[in-house]
Amino acid sequence: MMAVDVSKFVNAQRLWERHMEMAQYGRTPQGGVNRQALSTEDAMARRVLVTWAELLGLTVGTDVVGNLFMRLQGTNPEAAPVVTGSHIDSQPTGGRFDGVYGVLAGLEAIQAIREAGIVPKRSLELAVWMNEEGSRFAPGMMGSSVFSGSRTLDSVLSVIDAQGISVGQALEEIRNEFPDIPLWPLERRLHAYIEAHIEQGPVLEREGITIGVVTGIQGKRTFRVSVSGEEAHAGTAARSERRDALLAAVELIQAIKALCEDDEDLVKFTVGRLDVKPNAPSVVPAEAVFSIDLRHPDSSKLQSLGDQLLDLCAYEYERCAVSIQELSAAPSLEFPDSIRSLIRRTAEDQSISCMDILSKAGHDARYLHYVCDTGMIFIPCKDGISHNEAESATERDLADGARVLVGVLLGLST
Ligand code: GLV
Ligand code: MN
Ligand code: MN
Repeated sequence: MMAVDVSKFVNAQRLWERHMEMAQYGRTPQGGVNRQALSTEDAMARRVLVTWAELLGLTVGTDVVGNLFMRLQGTNPEAAPVVTGSHIDSQPTGGRFDGVYGVLAGLEAIQAIREAGIVPKRSLELAVWMNEEGSRFAPGMMGSSVFSGSRTLDSVLSVIDAQGISVGQALEEIRNEFPDIPLWPLERRLHAYIEAHIEQGPVLEREGITIGVVTGIQGKRTFRVSVSGEEAHAGTAARSERRDALLAAVELIQAIKALCEDDEDLVKFTVGRLDVKPNAPSVVPAEAVFSIDLRHPDSSKLQSLGDQLLDLCAYEYERCAVSIQELSAAPSLEFPDSIRSLIRRTAEDQSISCMDILSKAGHDARYLHYVCDTGMIFIPCKDGISHNEAESATERDLADGARVLVGVLLGLST
């Protein structure tokens, strides 16, 4: 079978070495990666990718929201392309595989197809979506959500980072770094989108299975909460008169935690960021701003929990006012059967073990799913660790994922 033959052109060592090279851009002392969206490190990583793509003869393009595309032209260039990819931005203490694996597996798959001398009917495109993590600029999945029409360009351009730099300014800077890359239209028809990713959880490793056929993605709502109090002297201000924004935030977070406790451990509630002002040891905090990341596989449960959480924010805590802004709301979704069975068949044809799995993490595939047939291929990661510098995966699993990706891309493009 053609797809099986082409998968033999996947070069495991090259794929591994590219991961190690990409991990240099934003490398942390603990061996992880800190590569924030549209940062200098992001630009350096893009430069390397573009060089690899050009050496392969791919056509490179970008769009107004900073997504990067690398295209292998098909024999029918008018036909909507088959797209694969993921993201190269990371969490501040991120690993070497989250996101970048989907990009490098896509590049490897396209290179294998090229080296096998095959020109598919539909063009194949490798996409690098801008700001998936939502770490420097919240919320995440900016590039893919704007590309797919789920968010407007204007709504993301004004988002600022902790230094007050806007997405609009950061986009201009990165455009200036790559003046020769042409702007492609934001609205384009895609035939299908396939994203490879490490699982970021423990299931595949525990089951001893190489490929996860992703059934869907659990729902997620994110919020930003601001608690306003008043500065006061830590030694003199009476307890009854204090308006301590940090204590108020702690009380509110405890109340939300109680709301989110379930026996099944399905509700995922995280406060990952807390900014306190003025953040001085002897001043009663005047302001506490924190993030909420809330997830649940059942969309109606997610909706009602999020709404109860909003109700909790309607009260005063420690005489402090609370305001809450919802940053994103995404229900659980299911990928189409046609793509899932193609992934399963392709893995089986190559005698690579596979199983169905629900993605508990979010991915750009969520937004692509709204505009074209979409699916995801998971591979195991060590101990299920992710969003952590210790994140790890094996050369063999990375390559097997790329081999399955080759077959799926060819299945969709010929
Ligand atoms: C993606 O990085 C997520 O937080 O699910
Ligand atoms: Mn990711
Ligand atoms: Mn991530």
